[in-house]
Amino acid sequence: MPMLQSDSCSKALHYLQRAAANFIAREWRYGAGVSTSGSQPENPGSIPGTATKLLFALLHCDLKNPHSLRQRHAQRHLSPNSFARESSTFNPVSESYFALAPSAIVTPMPQIKNLECSRCHATVSAATPQTLCPQCKGSLYVRYDLEPLRGITPREAIVREAASSSWSGMWRYRSVLPDVRPVTLGEGWTPMLASRRHPKAFLKDEGANPTGSFKARGLALAVTMARHYGLRQLAIPSAGNAAGALAAYAAAAGITAHIFMPRDVPFANYVEAIAYGASVTLVDGLISDCGRIVAERSKTEGWFDISTLKEPFRVEGKKTMGYELVEQLGWEYPDAVFYPTGGGVGLIGMWKAFTELEQLGWVKPGKRPKMIAVQASGCAPVAKAFDEGASSSEMWPNAATFASGLRVPKPYGDSIMLEILRDSHGTALAIPDAEILASLRDWAKNEGLFLSPEGAAATAAYERLLASGFLTPNDRVVLFNTGSALKYTDVIAEAMQLQLPTRQS
Ligand SMILES: Cc1ncc(COP(=O)(O)O)c(C=O)c1O
Ligand SMILES: [Zn+2]
Repeated sequence: MPMLQSDSCSKALHYLQRAAANFIAREWRYGAGVSTSGSQPENPGSIPGTATKLLFALLHCDLKNPHSLRQRHAQRHLSPNSFARESSTFNPVSESYFALAPSAIVTPMPQIKNLECSRCHATVSAATPQTLCPQCKGSLYVRYDLEPLRGITPREAIVREAASSSWSGMWRYRSVLPDVRPVTLGEGWTPMLASRRHPKAFLKDEGANPTGSFKARGLALAVTMARHYGLRQLAIPSAGNAAGALAAYAAAAGITAHIFMPRDVPFANYVEAIAYGASVTLVDGLISDCGRIVAERSKTEGWFDISTLKEPFRVEGKKTMGYELVEQLGWEYPDAVFYPTGGGVGLIGMWKAFTELEQLGWVKPGKRPKMIAVQASGCAPVAKAFDEGASSSEMWPNAATFASGLRVPKPYGDSIMLEILRDSHGTALAIPDAEILASLRDWAKNEGLFLSPEGAAATAAYERLLASGFLTPNDRVVLFNTGSALKYTDVIAEAMQLQLPTRQS
């Protein structure tokens, strides 16, 4: 579990430390031809000696001790060789944000090269906040120059740095995330649990994230970038869990969150958003209605619209699930990934991660997993489009399911998802609520895992694909439990027709 540091008076020093770290890392990398391995450079680069000492003194100064900068500067005598040793043993980013041991090793975070349209491949600068492609309204992907990170050495640095930290979560992949100061609440590096009954099935338990769902990953990065850009007001339409996550990260960043969600969201989503101090509007309608209101109000009120796939960083945060599952399986692909699909951000993010992992040479060569989109029968626009061989989905009428995160009648990223499902030789399924509930109860009773309805849709889908022969018990699969059941006690109790027994008189 994460050990979090309060984000208060040490901010200015954090900025200075990060600037110094990046300066040294870059000088070191470009000046001495050394990448992120932490090994000793042949030549300590072009930074003049005194400036180097000052920068290192700054990096090592103790946040709790205002005199430490002077003391350390006075006490240390840095030779070129000690420069190399020092360089490989500080981690200002992690010391400041992740409570890592001081001996952790720094991995520089990459500069964003540009944003690239997923449809027309136009490029856009990331210097200012962006929403959709200005030319065709396609979703934008974040692109970096990954060349300096190619090979096993930078991959090993991830493992080594994480091992010497008390916690770093999804930011263990900071070498493939934007170079900005993170807003973190302890997201990522969630358990990959082996099923007791299916030897080749692993449950990726995203319910362990802050705010109890995988939405934490995307919104941690989106809010991080919003703070970086100086945005003060963010607005989101949500099926429930994204609202809670935005509210939490916005509170941590001192940003105002405007939340629009259906009136019948699970109670926990309402309570958490209010507790985090967000401005909450309950809408008589679905997430699509909320999305329309957010788009209109954002224009008139000057809010930044952080809707699914309408800004580039939620996908970028969710891509860490792809890195993580591959690392947790020994840097190998599984045969299939089951993803409870609403807007599809995680599915799209993981596919992006697989592309990057291959460019980086970090994944053992092999076939990409079959991507399985799991939807509820009461709202299955992607499954329907997949079955019909269509390249986009149609608005699903009267969407209804107790798996509230799957109640997205017309996902913005439908064409991207459908392409991924076909390219991966995967499939899409629609599971009735009764079957979802049966699987939820089965996994709770027989595995000790209380899944969200969305997660239970994935376990139910797995049973179906085993029964149909699409997969065999020998196929290694990852089933995403995208949220904690504890956020759905009201909804699950209703589905189970369960009430607290009243006292017998
Ligand atoms: C628990 C849970 N699972 C799955 C989803 C669907 O996620 P996505 O929109 O990324 O497909 C949601 C969305 O709200 C959710 O809350
Ligand atoms: Zn475009």
